[in-house]
Parts: sequence; structure tokens; C-alpha cells
Amino acid sequence: MSPVTLSFDGNLARVMIDNPPVNALSKAVHVGLLKAARTIASRCDVTAVILACTGRSFVAGSDIRELDDPQPPYLPEVLTAIETSRIPWVAAIHGTALGGGLELAMACHGRIADSSAAFGLPEVTLGIVPGAGGTVRLPRLVPMTQAIEIVTGGKPVDATSALAMGLVDTLSQRDLIAEAEVLAKGLAAEGPGPLLLTRPPRDVAGIDWAKEEARVAARFRGATAPAEALASLRECAELGAAEAMARARARFLRLSTSAEAAALRHIFFAERNAGQSLRATAGQSVDLDLCGVIGGGTMGAGIAAALLLSGSVVRLIERDALAAEAGRARIAAAIETSRQRGVLSADAAQAALARLSVGADYAALVACPLVIEAVFEDMAVKRAVFEQLDAVMPPDAILASNTSYLDVDALAAGTWDPARVLGLHFFSPAHVMKLLEVVRGARTGPRALATAGALARRLRKTAVVAGVCDGFIGNRIMAAYRQDCEAMLLQGADPAEIDAAMRGYGFAMGLFEVQDMSGLDIAWARRRALAAAGTPSMSTISDRLCEAGRLGRKAGRGWYDYEDGKAKAAPVVEQILAEESARAGLVRRDFTQVEIMTRILRVMQEEGAQILAEGIAESASDIDVVMVAGYGFPRHRGGPMFQKRVTR
Ligand code: 3HC
Ligand code: NAI
Repeated sequence: MSPVTLSFDGNLARVMIDNPPVNALSKAVHVGLLKAARTIASRCDVTAVILACTGRSFVAGSDIRELDDPQPPYLPEVLTAIETSRIPWVAAIHGTALGGGLELAMACHGRIADSSAAFGLPEVTLGIVPGAGGTVRLPRLVPMTQAIEIVTGGKPVDATSALAMGLVDTLSQRDLIAEAEVLAKGLAAEGPGPLLLTRPPRDVAGIDWAKEEARVAARFRGATAPAEALASLRECAELGAAEAMARARARFLRLSTSAEAAALRHIFFAERNAGQSLRATAGQSVDLDLCGVIGGGTMGAGIAAALLLSGSVVRLIERDALAAEAGRARIAAAIETSRQRGVLSADAAQAALARLSVGADYAALVACPLVIEAVFEDMAVKRAVFEQLDAVMPPDAILASNTSYLDVDALAAGTWDPARVLGLHFFSPAHVMKLLEVVRGARTGPRALATAGALARRLRKTAVVAGVCDGFIGNRIMAAYRQDCEAMLLQGADPAEIDAAMRGYGFAMGLFEVQDMSGLDIAWARRRALAAAGTPSMSTISDRLCEAGRLGRKAGRGWYDYEDGKAKAAPVVEQILAEESARAGLVRRDFTQVEIMTRILRVMQEEGAQILAEGIAESASDIDVVMVAGYGFPRHRGGPMFQKRVTR
């Protein structure tokens, strides 16, 4: 059955798209739309057309699965049939009109939207540019400055902004379809106006294209699609519509088969497939409207803020009243930064804080169906916390640890019911970062897993399931390549070369810059603890830096020296490297950036393969999600395991 149906009501034609879940433009939808447009064109009695969608959304774009191999009839052909129709088409938009969906709406003669609708051209996030006239029609509806932001940034705009900038004609007040009919009849009565493509693009005179190109290059370092999208807009400003349209299409087709687009498509679906086993679990989540958090430091405060922002009531437990108030202050600061970023209003921020209570008495947690522990990374401290929780919490409460490395099974073993224990590994800042590693212990039960899945959905995070091992998926891979980077330092590379190689590949920062930013002392303390426990983990160079007080940016020195916030090579570090190379009997040699990056990738891939073989990760694409969402692996490279597949 066609996903497009055409019906008639007097002089009005109704075209409905029904292609769940998000009405993506598949080949079948193209066929259906073209057939409907031709049928309507052949009818003398039809005076207006309403185009709408069933389900949760208007069209959310072309079907991403078909992007690398488009088949006729192509979308531009469909849109031309609609746009050149002598009968006005009105798009009635609810949910999201994205990519090809917005291009479809722009090819119509009128647009009416639900007040909660969103509009965007997110093609650049998939490594492509709008391929069906988006870059040529949009600047004819909205000023070029706004078109540049929408097309190169890829972020959607809300209905109110869309109305203000001219993207839609009106917002519906009550009944979208009924009001779309009124708009359509009005357009029919007015008669066909000039085609959108015959109008000039709006407000292009003041655009400094060289400046825009420099800005886009700096903002989207490493990714090529935003610059290509800007080039399409520049062609829209400088060429006739037909020529600009043809060039944009050619660009779209060229980019659709690029390595960048393949990587971004991979990560798009990888993120949506992640955490499958959580959805498949037979368990029922506990109620998340009330949650407990233990420890109000960096992570506990971030987790509490994330929960408060999601609408939960939160009870925070710290070591004493003073520490509890310090935790409250950290949470307030996190919520304030969210307010400043426009995530929530001042009133909502105040309401979120009003849902928080802090203290040092575990009795306050008793009614919490979920408690997340984020105290020091020390097994003895965490065990003591779990013992107390075990003593006070009702038997059906879920107990989670935010541990970075520790053995969740060992923690669970100290409780009377290990089925209710799991790891919930958030990333810093926890109220911002999208990744959640769900650590499934050997005895973690379905209820705990269902709760983790529901929590991730509630906090709008991407959950990836990991088994128990030192560092789970992400920290284990990071530990492996960090060790190899230190080996390269001994062999002759210097920190700046390794950082430059990583940045050149697309990481926002290199490994040593990151270490300086987050501080070298935590890993140092961990190494000493491991050594004391009889499992030494070698990091001689880092140890020497820490012993010399070079703890990172906060100390003004680490792998680099810092002056006025700027990093520069540190002669002391060079000296330490020379001494350690000599001590290891190694002759220092030069490394190229390609060699460095090839080695880093190989180590990530080998560790990833091992993690898969041990059943720690559920799929290779889950590993990619972890590395991209949590560890700065460049999204447009798709992740280390994807790279392994495509470069094999
Ligand atoms: N093609 C194919 N499948 C799509 C899709 C698309 N464009 N958009 C979403 N889906 C699928 C998802 O894979 C998911 O499938 P699953 O249930 O089997 O996992 C399902 O729809 C629901 O998606 P989400 O889980 O992401 O649901 P949300 O409600 O969180 O988000 C959304 C909905 C905002 C529409 C989000 O899915 C989204 O951003 N989609 C991509 C939009 C996009 O990039 N459009 C441009 C495509 S390229 C294009 O149009 C080219 C044109 O210029 C020619
Ligand atoms: P932190 O030192 O900033 O905070 C720990 C907090 O726990 C302190 O406020 C301390 O007073 C409190 N605390 C200690 N013992 C307690 C007890 N018995 N009862 C109540 N409160 C207690 O540490 P951070 O960075 O927040 O780390 C917490 C946990 O999160 C650790 O397990 C860490 O490995 C993990 N983690 C840390 C990340 C990071 O980037 N900092 C990232 C992901 C996980």
C-alpha cells in the first residue's frame, strides 16, 4: 500500500503521508507524491490542496537509509511538480519539518504550522547539503543571515521564530487541518502569485562571504559539509535559481557518497540502536519522580542537576551538613549555567532548585526508588555507602554507582540483593553530556536495567550497556591508548606532536591537553591506590610530573607550561622525556602525525575488539557511540570500530 493517500472533499484535495515513524521521504513516498500531484493537476474541479502527515510528525527528512543510493523519481522532480502546480498547495505542519521535509513544505505555496512545530535543514549533521532546493528556496523566504545559521548550523528553529522570519505564513490556533483549509481557500481565491524561485533571495547585500566562510571553517573544524552548504548559499546569492539549484543538487550527490557522510549516517543509527537490550528487558522501571544522590562533588552535583532539570525531586546526601550545603551550591551553579544557556527559564530554574533537599542522614533516602552514588572513587568508601544503603532502603529500591572503574559485582556482592545493583556511569558535566554507560553486573536484574533505560530516556541521554571490567568500555579504551601515547613519548614523540595529530584528525583537544585540563592528580591517586593493592599500573612520566607538582592547568603547569592561560612547551617535560627514554634504553626518533594517529586508532580498535570478544560491549557500534559521545572522537569519523570496518 502506498504511504501517500489522496482524497477529495468538494473542490479540496487532501494529500496525506503515512510513513511511520517520522514520515521520512522514501522512494515509495516520492512515487506517491508525484502520482498525487499529477492526478490533482489533471482535475479541473480541484481548487486547493492540503498536504499533511499522520502520526507524530510532518516529514522529518529524506529516508536516511536511501541517501547513498537515490532512486527515481527524485525529490527535486516531485517538488517541481508541486511548486509549478496551478492549484495552490498548503503544507499543514506538526512535529518536525526537517531536511527534505522542510524542502517539501517550501515547495508548497503556503505553510501553516502547529505552534509546537520545529523546522530545520540538518543535512550537515549527516555530512551532506540540502539536495532538493533547500539552499535556494530558504533564502527566498527568510533573510540570508538566518538561512546561513539554519543551513550551516543544522539546528532546528521553533514555530514562533519560523513565523517571525517568514518561513511559515501563519500558526494554527486550534485545528491545524481546518485552518490549513482556510489558508488554502484564500490562496485559491487570490490566484497563483509569482513562483518562489522567481523572487530574489532576501537581504544578501550586507553579507561578507569571506568572513562567513572563515567563521564556518573555524566553528566546524574538520567537517566539510558546513562549508559546502555555505557555498551553496553563496551560489544562491550570486547565481540564478536554476543554476544554483543544479549546483546544490550536484554537491548533494557528491557528498552523499563521501566518507564523512557514511560515518555520520553510521553514528546516527548507532546512537538510535544503542541500549537495545535495555528496551528488550522484561523488567519495569521504578518511578523516577523522586531520586536520591549520594555525594555532591563534581559528578553528584551534575547528576542531581540533570535529575532536577528532568522534573525529579532530588535528595542529596553528603558526609556532613557543611559538605551538603557545598553540594547544594554546586547544583545551583550547574542549574544557573543551564539557565544562561537558555535550557530553562529563571522560574523553571527556581522551581528545580526548590525540588532539592540536602543533608547527611540516610533516612531521607528511604522513599527514593532509585539512589545513585557518586562518592570518592575508592572501593572501601563505596562499599561502606552500599552497606548503609542496604540497611535503610526498602528491598525494591534500585542502587546505582557512578564509579569510573571499580568492580560493580564486588559492590553488589556486599548487598543482600545484587539484582538491584548496577553502574550508571555519567560523564562530566553530567547535566550536559549525552552519554550514559549502564554497567550491567553479573547479577543485575531486569528491573534495574529497565530503570536505567527509563532514566536515560528521561534525561535525554544515549545509554550504552557495558559489562564489568576495569574502566568498562570508554575508560578502558582510553587507558589503553593513553598507555601507548606514553610509550610514544618514550620513543621520541613529544606531547605537542601527539596533541596536534589528534586535533588534525578532528578531536577538539589532544590527550595531553585534556589531561592538563582535568588534572593529573586523580589518575595519579588511582595508580598509587592500585600499587598499594598489589596491581601497579605504570605511568612513569605522569608520576614524575605529579611528583614535581605539575598537576595540570590548575597548577599552571602539567604536560605544558601555562602563561596567561596559553599552553607552551615545557623544557622540564622535555628533560624528563629525554631522561626516561635514556633510562629505558631507547633512542628518541621522529614521529609523523599520520604514524601517531594510525597507532592511536589501532590501539583503540584492538582494545575495542577485545572488549567485544569478552562480551563487555553489546556491539561494535556501541563502542563507537561511547567514543564519539563521551571521549571526543570526531563524530564525522564515525568512531574507531567504524574506521576499522571502512579502512580494512
Ligand atoms: N530517515 C530514516 N529514519 C529516520 C529518520 C530519517 N530521516 N529520522 C528518524 N528516523 C528513525 C530513527 O532511526 C528511529 O528509528 P527506530 O525507532 O527504528 O530506532 C525513529 O525514526 C525515531 O527517531 P528518533 O529515535 O530519533 O526519534 P526522536 O523523536 O528522538 O527524534 C527526529 C525525531 C527529530 C525526527 C530525529 O529522528 C531526527 O533528527 N531525524 C533525522 C532528521 C534529518 O536529519 N533529516 C534530514 C535527512 S537528509 C535529507 O532530508 C536530504 C534532503 O535534503 C534531500
Ligand atoms: P568529587 O571528589 O568531586 O566528589 C565526591 C563527593 O563525595 C565529595 O563531595 C565528598 O564529600 C562526597 N563523599 C565522599 N564520601 C562520602 C560518603 N561516605 N557519603 C556521602 N558523601 C561522600 O569526586 P567526583 O569527581 O564527583 O567523582 C565521584 C565519582 O564519580 C567517582 O566514583 C568517580 O570515579 C566518578 N566519576 C567521575 C568523573 C569525573 O569526571 N570527575 C566522571 C565519571 C565518573
